[in-house]
Amino acid sequence: KQKVGLVGWRGMVGSVLMSRLEACGDLDAIDAYYFSTSQGGEAGPDGRPLLDATDVKALADMDIVVSCQGGDYTKQVITDLRASGWDGYWLDAASALRMQDDSVIILDPVNRHVIDRALDSGVRTYVGGNCTVSLMLMGLIGLFREDLVEWANPTTYQAASGGGARHMRELLQQMGRLHNDCRELLDDPASAILDIDQKVITSMQAPDFPVECFSTPLAGSVIPWIDSLVANGQTREEWKAGAEANKILGNTQRPIPIDGLCVRVGAMRSHSQSVTVKLKKGVSVRALEDIVASGNEWVEVIENTPEATRARLTPAYASGSLKIPVGRIRKLSLGDEYLSLFTVGDQLLWGAAEPLRRMLAILVG
Ligand code: HSE
Repeated sequence: KQKVGLVGWRGMVGSVLMSRLEACGDLDAIDAYYFSTSQGGEAGPDGRPLLDATDVKALADMDIVVSCQGGDYTKQVITDLRASGWDGYWLDAASALRMQDDSVIILDPVNRHVIDRALDSGVRTYVGGNCTVSLMLMGLIGLFREDLVEWANPTTYQAASGGGARHMRELLQQMGRLHNDCRELLDDPASAILDIDQKVITSMQAPDFPVECFSTPLAGSVIPWIDSLVANGQTREEWKAGAEANKILGNTQRPIPIDGLCVRVGAMRSHSQSVTVKLKKGVSVRALEDIVASGNEWVEVIENTPEATRARLTPAYASGSLKIPVGRIRKLSLGDEYLSLFTVGDQLLWGAAEPLRRMLAILVG
């Protein structure tokens, strides 16, 4: 069995990864070693002492290291680890190494050919993609494979989980605070809705409204800014769509323009996005539905009806599962080549842990 070092397995993404490794029986196929950045020496989940995640020698003893610890950790150890001559496989959920020439962004249902080529040519670093990008490609890969996409313009509806565990808690604290502050009026059927609404506005604008993570209310509101400014008014999250999607698809020579607006909404752990696709040619909606459905086994094409949309094209439906619903598929009145659709996916599964778990399975054989 190959020695696999697990780092950051206690965090949110790491915990999802661990539960998937267990559920899929992957732990039986590896010799797992648990590392910790802070509790080296203490007993780990398997009873053996936790190894020190900053100990390059201990890491270098592994055939494969899987890190969900974050980009700062990766940057802290990777240079010394590689300089020590270690040529094991480094699998990472963080973005630090994602755009390097000697790394591959892993999303095997979409780019298994890119991964296989990289394995053959000796690439040793495999990094999970940005969650929004991975989820868009999982939903739309059928269209890319048929070479139908001239450009794509996503508008995202990103869940609190993308910010991290603390952000999910803060969203719920904000929700609770709003409800609490208007509860008396809400419980009184005779109260006026505008009085209730005024309570909500006052509550959101109160100096002690909990906004430490989001810097602004998210409950009852939206935030059309995610991550830092890159240039020309584009955020890093928006930049990733074009940069990462083309790298994942192996299109870096002739990138497909992909750019849009990233928005944080009050969903817990599933990102959604509405995408306008400029098709290279007019294709019927019926045929497009089949092409989207053929993308992979997790795509569910949702009939463009109110009932099906409300039942299955929502974060409430997709969360906690590997389902990738794609719906609201229709041509825009802008012309026959303008396709509109909406897709949803769990940010912690396909958006983070699952591509890593599957890459580990590919390596372990
Ligand atoms: N950056 C993403 C977000 C999550 O903030 O939603 C990780 O890819």
